[in-house]
Amino acid sequence: MSVATETKLIAPHGGELVDRTGERADDLDSLETLELTSRELSDLDMLASGALSPLTGFMRQADYESVLEHMRLVNGLPWALPVCLAVDEAPGSDRVALSRNAVLEVEDVYAYDKEREAQQAFGTTDAKHPGVERLYAQKPLYLAGRVTVFQRAEPSFPELALDPTDTRAAFAERGWKRVVGFQTRNPIHRAHEYLTKVALETVDGLLIHPLVGDTKSDDVPSKTRVECYRVLLDGYYPADRVVLSAFPAAMRYAGPREAIWHAICRKNYGCSHFIVGRDHAGVGDYYGTYDAQLIFDEFEPHELDIEPMFFEHSFWCRACGSMASAKTCPHGADEHVFLSGTKVREMLGNGELPPSEFSRPEVAQVLIEAYRA
Ligand code: ADX
Repeated sequence: MSVATETKLIAPHGGELVDRTGERADDLDSLETLELTSRELSDLDMLASGALSPLTGFMRQADYESVLEHMRLVNGLPWALPVCLAVDEAPGSDRVALSRNAVLEVEDVYAYDKEREAQQAFGTTDAKHPGVERLYAQKPLYLAGRVTVFQRAEPSFPELALDPTDTRAAFAERGWKRVVGFQTRNPIHRAHEYLTKVALETVDGLLIHPLVGDTKSDDVPSKTRVECYRVLLDGYYPADRVVLSAFPAAMRYAGPREAIWHAICRKNYGCSHFIVGRDHAGVGDYYGTYDAQLIFDEFEPHELDIEPMFFEHSFWCRACGSMASAKTCPHGADEHVFLSGTKVREMLGNGELPPSEFSRPEVAQVLIEAYRA
């Protein structure tokens, strides 16, 4: 890749992409081994690839506290969510093996207050919130330190597994400078298609970046979603303007703070812009519809560097004959096609296609087959 094309892209968060991959440690067999949860394993893999740049390991107490209180690392860089490794007790030596894939150099072991973290990160202490529930089930101490990963996690979708260096190379090869990232944990319905295409109108390229780490059990499984993305892209998106790749993170359901975190990660993947629509990364009624947009006001524009692209709740309007939102449509709610998630699941379960104003028939077909199976 030439330097000229490389420098067109946004710089990674903190200036440089971290690479925490390395050689297998010679003394691995003699090290104490900790088993990680699947969420911790996905964080570990993202530390390795630089997706979490500038982090080089699981967070030390000073960064953890600063992130909870100020949404910034100690060095002042914005950071919205803890990336921590929970353990039962302090290890007996200064290096430990992590699931036999990595070594952590112990820098810090500290107790943390789960309710406080819940309130600060998730905005609630309610144990029914899926992110809070996971937090409450964690071990009691955090173990911090730099990691070196010598065996990367097996990607769930090898052909979609692109590290930040790979997406950056893909964008540079296409000559893109302005690239919009789209986070999703759902099949792409017409509203999502609308946001991505409206955004793409103003930039060079689009990274469709579905999250494929842990999600809650009633979210559509990533295998089904990936089929949906494929049929949708084949039929409705220009191949030379879109990169589809899997985002290996686990879902936190932290709404506003996760929107910031998602944006920062996508900046590392080379995106200059990031889509934030209604209730981004939300769950239930924990967050206001636009809280995940308002939180961006807590940063100076230059601080994040990546530019959020905000979208109002979008829908199909029969009178407009197009997708629209309250910003662009003068008609009443009776003209708007709105289906609840429950209604859509019920239709798919009965083998019925939801209206094409809600979902492309190809996508609905994949979902119907998944429901049947
Ligand atoms: S999320 O947890 O990944 O945010 P989802 O996959 O549903 O869930 O949403 C992906 C992105 O599309 C988010 O930025 C979300 O705010 C946005 N979005 C989803 N549906 C709509 C809609 N009808 N109108 C506007 N934005 C939407």
